[in-house]
Amino acid sequence: MNIDYITREVEAEVNPKRFAHILRVEEMARRLAVRWNYDEERAALAAVLHDYAKDVSDEEFRRRLKRGDYPEVFKDYGNEIWHGWIGADIVAEKFDIHDEEILNAIRRHTTGDTTMTLLDKIIFVADYIEEGRDLPEVEEARRLAFVDLDAAVQLELANTINFLNKKGARIFPLTQEVFDGKR
Ligand SMILES: [Fe+2]
Ligand SMILES: [Fe+2]
Repeated sequence: MNIDYITREVEAEVNPKRFAHILRVEEMARRLAVRWNYDEERAALAAVLHDYAKDVSDEEFRRRLKRGDYPEVFKDYGNEIWHGWIGADIVAEKFDIHDEEILNAIRRHTTGDTTMTLLDKIIFVADYIEEGRDLPEVEEARRLAFVDLDAAVQLELANTINFLNKKGARIFPLTQEVFDGKR
């Protein structure tokens, strides 16, 4: 299955603003892949797919939570967690992709994980620093991403946790664990 076909399918599935974001993440993921010696086409594929399920309804996610083999804690969270972790399974079904490295990058892009592959880090960071973003310290994150990718991951985690704390939102336990482990 080629990336042009997948990109068209993604375009049909998500809203136009989201699709524009996805293309910018792809562009950034390609640049990071070149910088960090990862396969550029695989990084592009994971990037194009990372938000495929972002516009899936909560009803659909809840149906999948009920019948799927997901941790109980998922029920206490929403789209922000589901579109990655359940989204990866939706991608697997839709595109018949069973490459766990690609699927894990989709799963981990909103939460991080205690072990992250190079591809996980590329997608996690590209999502944060793509050229359309105006997030806290995004300029510094953009600079770091090409100098020290792990430091960019850490900065993104810290800012995300900070943002959620300010909002009074609960932090997903895995994300807190990742952050605590790296401090
Ligand atoms: Fe996302
Ligand atoms: Fe995204």
